[in-house]
Amino acid sequence: MIFDTFTIKSRVRPVPDFPKPGVMFRDITPLYQSPKAMRMVADSLIQRYVEAPITHIGALDARGFLLGAVLAYELNKPLILFRKAGKLPADTLSESYATEYGEAEIQIHADSLEGGERVLLLDDLIATGGTLLAAARLVHRMNAEVVEAAAIIDLPDLGGSQKLQDAGIPVFSLCAFG
Ligand code: PRP
Ligand code: HPA
Repeated sequence: MIFDTFTIKSRVRPVPDFPKPGVMFRDITPLYQSPKAMRMVADSLIQRYVEAPITHIGALDARGFLLGAVLAYELNKPLILFRKAGKLPADTLSESYATEYGEAEIQIHADSLEGGERVLLLDDLIATGGTLLAAARLVHRMNAEVVEAAAIIDLPDLGGSQKLQDAGIPVFSLCAFG
């Protein structure tokens, strides 16, 4: 399938003032409702990473899980879940971070990685970059490496993708909204 940004972007709905005044929320639920757009997203990411030297897929709670599961299945790699605080039952490592709307915390199971792994981080969207940066800190604390942080959408005006790159983390997104 030929990748076309319009098919993806036209399936992202702008919702003003959600979840609070002043925020233009980019809603990806219409994209997930389109098999054509979803296939385009999944196929593009599979094509990009099929030969990449990654050992694990790391997916971000919650919308990153949808993409993470598809890629882990297709690339036949272990899937690591980065969950919002309080959801993982066994021993965890935690990182706090700031987002566009407030403070948050993500966790990973302490036995998810042993050290030396090469992790592809996946999420639906990069805004301030707080979430992916916190996930990268967790990977680094486990002595593993982030090969790339990938998302469907980048919001470059919020500076997240630049922050990730400044932290030495390569970034890939399928489209951007300025
Ligand atoms: C959204 C989005 C990313 C993150 C991006 O998730 O899915 O994970 O925010 O923002 P950032 O770059 O500023 O960190 P959210 O925390 O709203 O959780 P959800 O996926 O459970 O809806
Ligand atoms: N859309 C979806 N998720 C988000 C956004 C957004 O605009 N900003 C931060 N997380």
